Amino acid sequence: MIHVESVTKKFSSGTEALSGVSFEVGAGEVVGLLGGNGAGKTTCFRILSGLMRPTSGRCLVCGSDVQAETLRARQVAGFLPGSDPGLYDRLTALENIIYYAQLYGMDRDYAMQRVSDLSSLLDMQSFMNRRTVEFSRGMKQRTAIARAFIHDPDVILLDEPSTGLDAASAAAIHRLIAGSADSGKAVLLSSHNVHEINKMCSRVLILNRGMIAESGTIKSIEERHAMDFESVFLKLTGNAV
Ligand SMILES: Nc1ncnc2c1ncn2[C@@H]1O[C@H](COP(=O)(O)OP(=O)(O)OP(=O)(O)O)[C@@H](O)[C@H]1O
Ligand SMILES: [Mg+2]
Repeated sequence: MIHVESVTKKFSSGTEALSGVSFEVGAGEVVGLLGGNGAGKTTCFRILSGLMRPTSGRCLVCGSDVQAETLRARQVAGFLPGSDPGLYDRLTALENIIYYAQLYGMDRDYAMQRVSDLSSLLDMQSFMNRRTVEFSRGMKQRTAIARAFIHDPDVILLDEPSTGLDAASAAAIHRLIAGSADSGKAVLLSSHNVHEINKMCSRVLILNRGMIAESGTIKSIEERHAMDFESVFLKLTGNAV
């Protein structure tokens, strides 16, 4: 469902954020994209969501070429940006989410039903009708998560979904991700939390300086390196002590 083929991204500054990255994510999989700060994760998400063009290589989501058929690819993918959730400050959480539902051409009754389901799942009822300018980091994050899931996308791209979330909200997004995979969606997520990765991901890709240094199930990676996953991660990303 997600197909990334030899993707390279070189910025005009000269930084090569991604160097020949290839991977696939199939239906029902939750794949973790891991790497230290500056490894290239956010760049990869931006390219997959059609916000940035790769220098070379190509990406497909559900068979649509993200660069050549961006609108079609966006219809089938839900994207949570990593840094700034990118909400409209003057709109309420509900208006932010419904605005996206309209962009996706969703039927209004169906969109309201989805909002209601996501709102109770992410415990957003108390702030759904408040303007997002007043929101805490976690409230903004939950709004952006609901927005990413509003059109029930088959491909889900989550750049650091649990950042800024309290324990209950993190557990709720974990349930949402697991439920999505169970119903056959393909999920790619990044995280700096080894516990979260262990819990959520059926497979991981370790990115180091724009290249995939290791991939597979956590168990297979631990066996291959004869050490626990966190130690492998630190070794491969050049942080071993
Ligand atoms: N717009 C840009 N212009 C120039 N360089 C950029 C740009 N965006 C990212 N980079 C560079 O690309 C590299 C990868 O950045 P990226 O944001 O993809 O990393 P990341 O893995 O998401 O890191 P983090 O864990 O800190 O979120 C870094 O060296 C960064 O400085
Ligand atoms: Mg990032």
